[in-house]
Amino acid sequence: MERETVVLGLETSCDETAAAVVARGADGRGRILSNVVRAQWEQHRRFGGIVPEIAARAHVECLDEIIAEAMRTAALDFAALDAVAVTGGPGLIGGLLVGVMTAKAIALVHKLDFIAVNHLEAHALTVGLTEDLAPPYLLLLISGGHTQLLIVRGVGDYQRLGTTIDDALGEAFDKTAKLLGLGFPGGPAVEQAALTGRAGRFPLPRPMLGREAPHFSFAGLKTAVRHQAQALVPLREKDVADLCADFEAAVAESVSDRVRRAMAITDERLGARQQRHLVVAGGVAANRRLREALATVAASAGYQLHVPPASLCTDNAAMVAWAGAERLARGWADGLDFQARARWPLDPSATPALGAGKQGAKA
Ligand code: KG4
Ligand code: ZN
Repeated sequence: MERETVVLGLETSCDETAAAVVARGADGRGRILSNVVRAQWEQHRRFGGIVPEIAARAHVECLDEIIAEAMRTAALDFAALDAVAVTGGPGLIGGLLVGVMTAKAIALVHKLDFIAVNHLEAHALTVGLTEDLAPPYLLLLISGGHTQLLIVRGVGDYQRLGTTIDDALGEAFDKTAKLLGLGFPGGPAVEQAALTGRAGRFPLPRPMLGREAPHFSFAGLKTAVRHQAQALVPLREKDVADLCADFEAAVAESVSDRVRRAMAITDERLGARQQRHLVVAGGVAANRRLREALATVAASAGYQLHVPPASLCTDNAAMVAWAGAERLARGWADGLDFQARARWPLDPSATPALGAGKQGAKA
C-alpha cells in the first residue's frame, strides 16, 4: 500500500525563485505545506524584459534563503522529506543550473530521491493538486514562454496538439504593453487599461482563425497594434485603453477558435466519455476577458472548465513538488547525472510548427 510522501520542489527556470513543500497522501491527494515565490521584477524592470544573466545571479543569491523559508513554514527538517524535485527544463539555462545543482546537493547530503521535472509537466499536472481531477483532459497552457494545447492522457503521457509559431501569448501581452508605454509585466497592465476601453474601434487581425491544426500566432497581432498606435501618436489615455480592449478581443477570439478545434481533435482521439475537461494553466490564465471567452467555448462544447488559483497558475514550486510526488509515486526518480535542458519538449513526437522567420517553435 502507498504511504504519504513529502517532496521539496524548486523552480528557477525563468525569473521567479521558488521553493515549496507538498505532501501526497496514500489516497493520491495533494496538500501544500509551504509555497514561497520571489519574483525578480525589480531587477529586470529597467531593461523592459528578463535578462538571463541577471536572473541566474538572482537565483544564486536567494535560493538558499527561499528553501530555508519553505522548510520553516512547513515546520519540517530535511530528514522528513522523501525527495527533492526541481525544474530540469525547459528554460533559461543559467537559472536551471542553479536549481538543479542545489537540488542534487540536497538529495546527496540528506539521502533523498532526486527528481527532474519538466516545467510544462508541472503546469500540466497542477490541477490535480487543487481539485480531484485525474487525466485525461485537454490542457491550454498560456504563459510568458509557452503557448500550447496538449492532451494530458496520464502522468508522463502527453500529446501536443498545437503550439505557437512565433510569440507566446504572455510575450504578446508583454510586448503590447511595452509598445503602448504600459508597465512590465504587461499582462496585468493591458488587462487594467482595457477595463476602461471599448473594443470595436480598431480593425485587428484574428490570427489562425479556422486553421486545421490548432496552432497559434501572435506576432502579427502585436505588429498590427503597433501600426494602429503609430498612426495615432501622441496617444491619449483613451486610445491606449481602446487598443488594449481590441487586443484582448482579438486574443479571445483567436484562442477560442483554436481551443474549439483542439476539443474536436480531443473528442476524436479519446472517444466517447462521461466527463470532458478543459484545464487552463500559465500566467495568462489570470486574464478575465479570456476566461470568460473560454467559459463560453467550454459550455457550448460540453466541457467543464478548470482554472487553478492564480498563485498556482503563475510560476511556483508547489507545482514542481507535486509533479515530483506524482513521478515518485510511480517509481520514476532520476540519477544525479541528470543534465539541465534548455529545451525539453513534453511530447517529443510532435513535429515543429514552423512560422515565417522562425527556425523552430518553442518547446
Ligand atoms: O506562467 P508565468 O508566471 O511565467 C512563465 O512561465 O512565463 O506567466 C507570466 C506571463 C507574463 O507574460 C504576464 O504578462 C502574463 O503571464 N500575465 C497576464 C496576466 N497576468 C499575467 N496576461 C494577461 N492578463 C493577465 N491578467
Ligand atoms: Zn511557467
